[in-house]
Amino acid sequence: MSTISMIVERQFALAKIDDRLYSSFIEHLGRAVYSGIYEPGHPTADERGFRKDVIELVRDLGVTLVRYPGGNFLSGYNWTDGIGPVDRRPRRLDLAWRTIEPNLIGIDEFYEWSKMAGTGIMAAVNMGTGTPKEAGEMLEYCNFPGGTQWSDLRKKNGHADPYGIKTWCIGNEMDGPWQICHLDAVDYGKKARETAKIMKLIDDNLELVVCGSSTSTMPTYPEWDRIVLEQTYEHIDYLSLHRYYENLGNDRDFLASFVDMDRFIKSVASTVDYVKSLKRSPRTIGLSFDEWNVWYQRKQIRFDWEEAPPILEDQYSLLDALTFAGMGISLINNADRVKIACLAQLVNVIAPIFTKKGGGVIKQSTYYPFRDISKFGRGLVLRPAVASPTVETAYGDAPVLSMAVVDDPESETLTVFCLNIDEKDGHRLDLDLRSFGKVSMIMREQMTGPDPDAKNTFESPDLVRPVALEPIRESCERCSVQIEALSWNVLRFKYTK
Ligand code: AHR
Repeated sequence: MSTISMIVERQFALAKIDDRLYSSFIEHLGRAVYSGIYEPGHPTADERGFRKDVIELVRDLGVTLVRYPGGNFLSGYNWTDGIGPVDRRPRRLDLAWRTIEPNLIGIDEFYEWSKMAGTGIMAAVNMGTGTPKEAGEMLEYCNFPGGTQWSDLRKKNGHADPYGIKTWCIGNEMDGPWQICHLDAVDYGKKARETAKIMKLIDDNLELVVCGSSTSTMPTYPEWDRIVLEQTYEHIDYLSLHRYYENLGNDRDFLASFVDMDRFIKSVASTVDYVKSLKRSPRTIGLSFDEWNVWYQRKQIRFDWEEAPPILEDQYSLLDALTFAGMGISLINNADRVKIACLAQLVNVIAPIFTKKGGGVIKQSTYYPFRDISKFGRGLVLRPAVASPTVETAYGDAPVLSMAVVDDPESETLTVFCLNIDEKDGHRLDLDLRSFGKVSMIMREQMTGPDPDAKNTFESPDLVRPVALEPIRESCERCSVQIEALSWNVLRFKYTK
């Protein structure tokens, strides 16, 4: 065990965290929609078929936006298949996931669901089989008040008021050869630019996201990002990043995924800065990390033309949750550049919420760190000075203790998120919070356990979860906290100047 010091200086704020950092993603994929958020006849379903047990958990997670309808699905999807009388909607082959899409849910139903779940929508337009014109039509349908073909159709379909969806993705992972109608960077850049022009002519209040590299290991990264930005810079607002990690057999390397994620964010930010200079632009394009998670991609099973089969239903362990928590810390510490981030995904498909068809719902281990950062990670992210020892990993040296510190000046509360990736030893964290005046600890929570492979199941739904520890009673301008081996910790303080 060693003692690790951290000084937090109230003046040293990096950025105000954008609430959209705590967004998520629902794709028409597997059981995310059908028997995930929507299951008519389920004991908890409302009159529209939305599962209220799932809605309750989405609300508890405090999700800001939900990206919809995809994902790889998006690039073959005709959004008009999902509007109008349900009994007249087509059943289609979904070529992305080799399933049957019944189109029982479309943008209108999803909008209603999002209202019930207390989230906004980050909509996405098809840049695979779709055209810039169709993207404009979908936007007109959703956001134009009325008096035109598409806006009047929305009204006819039961929604008098426009949806006011502000954030839109122009396609999904268009750099990936697996993507339906994949394009090269120049062709995608031109198509995205012309789509952006149409969309902003319809609604100049929009914020548009173009596809960056689908992962940092793509051979075209970061050239793809540079070229796409050069084509689109003046017309868009965000560049996307996607990254998933899985345990390839070395726990320490896996736990250090955040080191790689951090590097990825910084290098994409540099690419943005380069194009900004090239364009002599005063605007800095933000980053939208709109897919991030742990995903066991190598264990993926192939399905053939079923309706809502159990695709990508990863079950998450404590170790997965700790790795995931490290990624969350990395997002917060890059909040000066990352303005939107979507946990991919939200229900059943690589998700923190897991349902049984006709049955109950459980919280996976990853549910808890997401809820913690979403609930308490709002305000200003500070830059603490930390002297943590490091361990060697495949991604380079990784700090044993990683921290994100968030100050909410309105409620005068300070939150310290702390991850210990040391598999053997706990450490003492010596905190110096003197710049905050009088400080007292109001909450101390820890997630750890004897078995890093433990997972929540329907039989044992609470095996992996945080426990509340007794806060330190004496004043905390300077105090010392025990951080157990392999643990995720949330420490909260109230201060008065
Ligand atoms: O989230 C699962 C898939 O991962 C998405 O459909 C795609 O965008 C990414 O490759």
